[in-house]
Formats: sequence, structure tokens, C-alpha cells
Amino acid sequence: MKIVILETPEHVAQYGAELISKQLASKPASVLGLATGSTPVALYNELIARCRTSEVSFSQATTFNLDEYLGLDAQHPQSYRYFMDKHLFNQVNIDPANTYVPNGTSADPIAECEAYELKLEKAGGVDLQLLGLGHNGHIGFNEPTSSLGSRTRIKTLTPETIKANQRFFSEGEFQPTLAITMGIGTIMESKQVVLLATGAAKSDAVVEMIEGPIAARCPASILQLHPKVTVILDRAASQGLENSCFYELTEARNQELLHHRQSRSQSR
Ligand code: GLP
Repeated sequence: MKIVILETPEHVAQYGAELISKQLASKPASVLGLATGSTPVALYNELIARCRTSEVSFSQATTFNLDEYLGLDAQHPQSYRYFMDKHLFNQVNIDPANTYVPNGTSADPIAECEAYELKLEKAGGVDLQLLGLGHNGHIGFNEPTSSLGSRTRIKTLTPETIKANQRFFSEGEFQPTLAITMGIGTIMESKQVVLLATGAAKSDAVVEMIEGPIAARCPASILQLHPKVTVILDRAASQGLENSCFYELTEARNQELLHHRQSRSQSR
């Protein structure tokens, strides 16, 4: 795991946007795995700004979102399809036909999960998967004790997750307790993973993910087995890490090497 600790959530968004920009520059027809939640919004804003100045282009990209609430249609303001249209797709040059989010109102949700996996396979799999982190260590909607080999399926949300996401729903409004989510096995097949976590409320989950054992009680800990993961944290989210000095030293060295390589290639 490459651990990057930055001062603020804005720095986290910039760093993450740079990784996605690089991915799209090196492979314009990339398949991106995308996430919802409040954490990636600043990163999406940065990508929108870069798209407006033609620094990045989504014209050939395809996207697959991690999850969707069961029971909310695309027009529902709390659906993840609505969220993605609003926060990214409607503001960049992506072909809407190339944006996939599980259908939360499918007449046959089990078939929808199987079809989602097939579509992903047909697209060639995810090149870069963006992830947030639940307070309980979930990724997508893979709650603690989810099978570490799971595929796209319907999951029951924990009371903790329902409570954490309550802030998006108005009082008395129907809040789903089930969701369709890519599985942990599905996520692990991505060629590259970029996980963002900001704020002190995520610090316990961050410790378990990075320095704890690989265990289904913290689904994100499975990322320790992935060969290409970048975890980008702000200072507050990193506060519980035992080895944060080592991660910062390593990242500083990586940056030095990068600058060295860049200045050598420029002087040639
Ligand atoms: C939801 C989403 C996750 C997201 C998590 C954290 O449960 N299904 O993909 O990572 O929330 O959200 P936030 O970034 O708002 O803390």
C-alpha cells in the first residue's frame, strides 16, 4: 500500500484528481470505478475544473459506480445515479451511455447484479477504482463480515451506516436499508485502487485498514493484498497511525525521485 498523508481534504482531492488525470492521459478509453459519499465531491470538482480547461478528457472513458440504494430510482435526489449525474457526469464531456450505476429499481435485482458483473467484464474490467471509506471500514456497501471474495450482490446495511447516511435524507423520508454493491472480490480485480479518507471520524477505520490484520470485520483491510493501492489521507484521518512518520518519509522520497526523473527527461 502506498500511503500519502496530506494536510487538508483539498490537498487529498488534488492528489486524487491528479492520479485520475494521469490514468486518462495514458489511456483515454479507461474504465473508471467511481464512488459516492461526501469525500470524493472535492475530487470531482477538481476533475470538472480540469475538464473545462481541457487538461483532462472523459470523451472515451467508461465508468462503473460501486453501488446504489435498492428502491431509489435515478430521479430520486438521494440515489447514487442522481448524485453522479449532478456531481460529475453532467459537468464533464463523458458520453452518458458509458456511465453505469446499478439499477436500484430493477424488477429483478438479483439478475441486475449478475448483469452488472457481465457488463463490467465486457468493458475489460476497471483500470482505476476510486473508493471512500465507511466509518466501520466498509468499501462500496460491503459491510463488516462481508465475504472478502464477494461479487456484486444485494447487501443489508448496518444500523451504523444507515445512521451515517441519514444526513442526506429529510425527516420522515424513506431511507433504504438495502443496496446493490460491487463485491469485495470485484473491487480487488481493479488494476489500480485509489482510496480517499478525510476527517478524524475516519481515523479508527484507517488504522484497521492499514495496520490491522486482514479481516472481514474491516472490509477495506483486504486492500493490503492488492498490488497497486494508493491511500490518500488528510492529517486528521491519519492521526491514529502508528507508522505515519515512515509513510511520510517514503512519500517524500517517492516525490524526490519523481522530480529527479522529470528534470532529467526535460534536460534531454
Ligand atoms: C457510503 C458509500 C461508500 C462511501 C461511504 C463514506 O456508505 N456507499 O462508497 O465510501 O458512504 O461516505 P462519506 O465519504 O460521505 O464519508
